[in-house]
Order: sequence, then structure tokens, then C-alpha cells
Amino acid sequence: MLQDASAVFERGHIYAVMGESGAGKSTIFNLLLKLWHTSQGEILIDDLSIDDWNTDTLRKSICCVAQEDFILNMSIRDNIVLDDASISDEEVNQAAQLACMQDFAIDEQINNTIGESGCTISGGQRQRIALARMFLSKASVILMDEPTAALDRKKTLCIMENIRKECSDKLVIIISHSDDVASYCDETYFLKHGKLQKSEKE
Ligand SMILES: Nc1ncnc2c1ncn2[C@@H]1O[C@H](COP(=O)(O)OP(=O)(O)OP(=O)(O)O)[C@@H](O)[C@H]1O
Ligand SMILES: [Mg+2]
Repeated sequence: MLQDASAVFERGHIYAVMGESGAGKSTIFNLLLKLWHTSQGEILIDDLSIDDWNTDTLRKSICCVAQEDFILNMSIRDNIVLDDASISDEEVNQAAQLACMQDFAIDEQINNTIGESGCTISGGQRQRIALARMFLSKASVILMDEPTAALDRKKTLCIMENIRKECSDKLVIIISHSDDVASYCDETYFLKHGKLQKSEKE
């Protein structure tokens, strides 16, 4: 439960939100997506109360990467582009590279089907497909819930480097337990006892 939690998130910055399991980190995303509503306090987006935002408009401007994102029984390529036929092969390959997918989605491999819920690939590979979708997204706000939890350190650092490069004009909020992820963020908030505490970089 969030209580007296206060934070300002600005476009052009990357924020880490850290805290113990059950602290309420995912709850913040659920509130920002209007999946849940606040019982007290308020959330302002561009000075307008979230209650006054049209839900569809709000959600269209937000790209979400869940810890276990949905994977469909179709090719890696189709899982990345989903229903957007306007995305070129070159753009898909670039997104796959930014998501460090070279080990399983290079060249023709990208057309391989990956089974029901992606059962023929690893959890970390599924996570990188969700990250490739994010790199193609035109949304101005990116919310990621432990997006690298299943990845090794080298890939985590590589992806964070790419997020810094590619998302510099967006608002990016990353929930993570990883100090490596936080080290790439402009600011880190710790959520404890319902409150958000900012830890500034030295
Ligand atoms: N749908 C729900 N209904 C009621 N309580 C919930 C619901 N989902 C989560 N909670 C409670 O809200 C609190 C915060 O949950 P939340 O999922 O935000 O934690 P979290 O910080 O994201 O944890 P984790 O690191 O384990 O993902 C928890 O105590 C949890 O039991
Ligand atoms: Mg959570």
C-alpha cells in the first residue's frame, strides 16, 4: 500500500524504482495505467489529474514491458512487430540488435516460430522479445517492470546502454532489483513503508 508517496517523473530522464518484494512498485504502474484508482492523493500528468485523462489516450502514450510479457505462437519477427505491418525488416533487425537478440534471432532465425507462450525459447529470450517491441514503440512514456530480471549481467548492461541512447527524449521508469540497472538511471527511488525516497547520484 502506498502512503504519502510522492515523486516527480520528467520526460528526458530514466528513473529506477527499487524496493522489497511486496513494497508496492508494480502498484505504481497499475495506477499510472489507470488499471487501479487511488483512494487518496492524486496523480498529475502534464498538470492534468489522471482522472481527467481519457484512458485510451493515456494508454496509447505508454509502452509497458512486463516481467513476463505475452508471447504468441508465431515467429519471433511477428512477436516483435505484432499487428503493425508498417514496420520494415530493417527496423525489426535493428530493434532485435538493440535488445541483444543476436544469439537467437539473427538473419533467417527471426522467422522461426517459438511455440505456445514461447515455450521453445528461454525466459531471458522471451524478455528480450518484449524489449525489442519497446525499442520499436513510439510511445513517449516507457514503463518496465523488472525487464532484465532473467538476463545475464553482460546483456543487462548492453540493453541499459541502448535504452540510454534510444530513449533519451522519453520518460522511462524501470522497476528493478538490480544495482546495474540503477547505475544507468538518472535517479533512483526506493519504495519503503509506502513512501518513495530519492537517492541522488554522487
Ligand atoms: N490485486 C491486488 N489486490 C489486493 N492487493 C494486492 C493486489 N496486488 C498486489 N497487492 C498487494 O499490494 C502490495 C504491493 O504489491 P505490488 O505488486 O505493487 O508489489 P511489488 O513491489 O511490485 O512486489 P514484487 O517485487 O514482488 O513484484 C502487496 O502487499 C500485495 O499483496
Ligand atoms: Mg511487482
